[in-house]
Amino acid sequence: MPQFTTLVLTTAALAAAQTTLIPTDCFSSQSDFDTYFSYDYPWNSDVHNGGARMSSTQCSLSNGALVETATYDPDQTDLDDLAINYLSCAVYAKQTFAVTAGGGPDFQADFLAPVDVGTWPAFWLTATVGWPPEIDMAEWKGSGDISFNTFNSSEEVTALDREYVDPGEWHTVLAELRDHRNGDVSCSWVNAGGFG
Ligand SMILES: *[C@@H]1O[C@H](CO)[C@@H](O)[C@H](O)[C@H]1NC(C)=O
Repeated sequence: MPQFTTLVLTTAALAAAQTTLIPTDCFSSQSDFDTYFSYDYPWNSDVHNGGARMSSTQCSLSNGALVETATYDPDQTDLDDLAINYLSCAVYAKQTFAVTAGGGPDFQADFLAPVDVGTWPAFWLTATVGWPPEIDMAEWKGSGDISFNTFNSSEEVTALDREYVDPGEWHTVLAELRDHRNGDVSCSWVNAGGFG
């Protein structure tokens, strides 16, 4: 059974049907944040497919939400094969989880997400060790769409893009992970049809 960890790029409330893993007030104070989240990616600050380096200085808490700010910074040291020209924010849940036999958690979060060209906010799950699996519960890749993706492998990808209407408004994403008792885990987006 794959183990997942959670990366969250805007305000998040993660809840299972019976046990709350991460409460809705997780971004209410720095101590609430520190209880549930760490800064950067679980592996480090910048080995990921984007031209930004993560820094806690780009993350702030405001009115119960996590605010992430990308700043142009061409003086960052480039990676071997990738120019790093921005500083940005990533946070990940300290808690990992396994999908329980016959059950599974729900992940719900509210987002005020930009769709400007060059931005790439994302709310996603990845394995605690190795890759895949990955489930992109919501990504906005600067196209005007919201994307939902599951990766069985780098070749076996199911991707759904929907027009992201009213990006200036808050939108809720609800993803349900479920065990299928055969080693497979599915992800259903309860309100994906509400986007576009
Ligand atoms: C991923 O694996 C599941 C379970 O075997 C299968 O149902 C699904 O079609 C696969 N997705 C792709 C894109 O191959």
